[in-house]
Formats: sequence, C-alpha cells, structure tokens
Amino acid sequence: MSTKENKKYAIGMIGLGTMGCNLLLNIADHGFPGAGYDKNADKVTMLDELGRGKTVKGFTELNNFIKNLESPRVLMMLVPAGKIVDDVIAELVPLLDKGDILIDGGNSHFIDTERRSTALEKLGFHFFGMGISGGEEGARSGPSMMPGGNKEAYKHVQNIFEAIAAKVNDEPCVTYIGHGASGHFVKMVHNGIEYALMELIAETYEIFKKGLRLDNDKIHDIFDQWNKSRLQSFLIEITAEIFSFKNAGTDHLLLDDIRDEAKSKGTGKWTSQVAMDLNLPIPVIDVAVSMRDLSKYKSLRTKAANEYADIPRKTLTEKPDEYLTNLEQAYYFSMVATYAQGMHLLYKASETYDYKLELDQIAKIWRGGCIIRSSFLEDIYSAFRSNEKLEHLFLDGSVQSILKNSSNGIRTVVSDAAAYGLAIPAYAASLNYFDSFRNERMPSNLIQAQRDFFGAHTYELIGKDGVFHSEWNSNVKT
Ligand code: 6PG
Repeated sequence: MSTKENKKYAIGMIGLGTMGCNLLLNIADHGFPGAGYDKNADKVTMLDELGRGKTVKGFTELNNFIKNLESPRVLMMLVPAGKIVDDVIAELVPLLDKGDILIDGGNSHFIDTERRSTALEKLGFHFFGMGISGGEEGARSGPSMMPGGNKEAYKHVQNIFEAIAAKVNDEPCVTYIGHGASGHFVKMVHNGIEYALMELIAETYEIFKKGLRLDNDKIHDIFDQWNKSRLQSFLIEITAEIFSFKNAGTDHLLLDDIRDEAKSKGTGKWTSQVAMDLNLPIPVIDVAVSMRDLSKYKSLRTKAANEYADIPRKTLTEKPDEYLTNLEQAYYFSMVATYAQGMHLLYKASETYDYKLELDQIAKIWRGGCIIRSSFLEDIYSAFRSNEKLEHLFLDGSVQSILKNSSNGIRTVVSDAAAYGLAIPAYAASLNYFDSFRNERMPSNLIQAQRDFFGAHTYELIGKDGVFHSEWNSNVKT
C-alpha cells in the first residue's frame, strides 16, 4: 500500500519505542497497513528501516499522521504510563472525529483509565485501556492482550488484535474483557501474579544456592528440567537461560555480577493496594512487593548481616537430590496459591465494579504470549470453564488434588527453611494462606473480643442475631 494510491492506514501507533515499533511491525506482518508517530525522528527512521517492504510508514508530524488514517480512526498509544498519556490525549482530541477509537496499550493505572474513558466517551470517542503482555518479543511475534472498553467499538478492532495475538491451539490470546478500565485492571492483576511468581523463583534460587549449596550449572539443569514438567512456564524457562548466560570473554554467569536490589514500575504495588481496598487477601503478591522493597535497603541489610552473623546457617539437607522432590511440590503448591489469589481478586473486582469478567476467558488468553503463561493456566481455564460460578480455585476438584498431593513438599520446605534460617516468605505465605483458608474457625473471635474490650467496637455471637458489647473491665482482676 502507498499513500500515493490514496489508501489510508488501518491503525496508527503513537510512541515508537520498542513495544510500539514491534507491535506495528507485527500488525503489518498480518496484512494491516500501519502508521507510526513519534516526536523523535530517530525512532521514526528506525521504524521505516525495520519496516522496509512492509505496509508501515513513520510520521513525525501529528496532523499528517492523523490525516492518513482510515475512518473511524484507530489509534493506539504506547507511551509511558502517567501524565504523558494525558498529554498525548490532550494533543489528539482536537484532531479526532466522533466515533474514533483511542487505545492505551501501556500499563496505566485502572483508575486513570476509568477517568479517561468517561471523559472521552462523553466527547463521542471510544477509549480502550488495553493491557499488553509479552515484552519486546511478544509485541513482535504475538502478545497476550486484554482490551477493555466499549463492546460495539471492539468489533472494529477485533480482527486486527486476533491476527497479531499469540495463538494457543490456533486460538488467539486476546478477548474482549469488559467495560471501562477492566482491561487495565486485569493486566494489573497479571503483573501482581508476575511479581509473586518471580519472587517464588528467586526464593527457590536461595534454597538451591544457600540451602542445598548447588552450583550454577546444577541450578540451570534443575530449572531446565522443571520447564519440561508440570512446572513448565515462561518464567521458569527464562530463569534456566539466565543460569547459563555468560558475557563474551567472561567465565562466570552475568547473574553473579548483578546487584541484589530489585526495581519496579508499580503495577505489583497497585495490585496489593487495590486488593487491600477491596478487602481481598493476596498475601503472596503482597510479600513479593515487600521483598522487592526490602532488597533496596542494601546498606541496612549489610549491617544486620554482620550483627547477626553468629546465628548459624546450616545446609538444608545432606541429600540435595532427594530433596528436590520436596522443592518441586513446594513450588507447584505456591504457584497454584499465587494464581488462585490473583483469580480471586478478579472475581471480587468483577463483582465490585460490575466488570462481568469471564475468568475462564482470562485464563485462556493468559496461556500464551504473556509473562505468566504456564502449563497450569490450562488447568485454570478448565476449572472456570467447567464451573462459571467458581469463586476460588482452591474449591475446584482437580486443584484440590494438586494441593493435597503437594502438601508434604511445601510443609517440609517451609519448616526446614525456618529452622535453618533461610528467608522464603512467599513460600511461607502460600502455605499460611492455604492453612488459613481451610480453617473453618479462625482465631478471629479473639480479635473481636479485643476490639470490643478496648474500644467498644461490638461483636456478633454464634447462633444469635444482633451486635453485642460487654463491660470487659468488670471481669479484670487487679
Ligand atoms: C508484561 C510485563 C510488563 C512489565 C514488566 C516490568 O506483561 O509484559 O508485565 O508489562 O512492565 O514486567 O515490570 P516492573 O518494572 O514493575 O518489574
């Protein structure tokens, strides 16, 4: 296609960073002419070079870019989350016509997306918050996408998204998620799960290295083997690769040179914050966020390491190879608990915000393309497909078998790690969450009694309606 023939572009991409550029090339590969816009001329040149022979063209001039799009215009922004998104929208609005579709493909906070969606729909535009997962490689060859917005307008872009998405069993890893900010909400929870799985893998590394005293080659082999088993996942796969990566000319792993201070852009924290607001516990994700934060206090940790150096740290077992069965079960158990918490948060959010989320469809589109893709997502998909009212994954029959059969491994690993002084808080949180979840009578009656004691906050009684208060002090013996 060329503009000389007066044909226009099916979609316009604003922001030609790695994600925007790769996604546009992917779109062009699937036969949709794509235009790209960036203020930075070097990025536009790069797009034109990479897109040589394809139906893509870069623009540095916004008006010209907009004029070259088919009507109704479909515009996707891939710019950093935050104020820049508002700035781009403000620049675009005077140039758009009613009915045009604007898509925010970044990791925007869902509350921002809700605000933008309401404002833009009032002006007669359609706004989509669309989570896109899979990083650079996913954008180029098939991401998982979570679009939320106007259902009718989605039909206009559905064929493009389905064509460029990752495929699992020939089915695209994209589906209409729901109204408003639901797409960005679901992507945020995806990232919360991502944080927790990464933390679990990091803790596994800690056990391998300090508990079992395994060398990097052996650790590589175990992760590689796990990736060929029921633990198969993208994150385990890349972890195995990290355990064999050396920079040219060096004889040791790059990993060993990397500082132990983890950064983040906030999506994990947002997941925990929202879960707290919704009174919905996701402790494995919370721990993962906290551990990234704790990792940043390097100098405090260094001082404390010296102060407490006399607490002995022994090896976890004399028989590392035999111990791996426990670890495999512990990881599987905790991974299941992580997904279960994420799905439970989606269930609760769907009720609270009336998103009408179809949890089976969300599991389905996470099976490919995204960072948290794993074999286990097939099980999650089946669980929610066979019971659309399923409130919590732990109540699914086959998940129950998994948890029961992995219970010995997680208990052994968590108790041994505690006894030997190894920190594996995400593993411990998974087990404690499970044991609390299956506890019919929690000790929360005591909390109610305490609240009423010191603050007259009242309590409820078993088998009796109403709220009650006692003069607890009258019973205190002095
Ligand atoms: C994805 C990822 C991606 C995210 C990075 C970095 O699904 O492709 O979730 O969207 O930005 O993983 O996140 P942090 O910088 O917060 O670790």
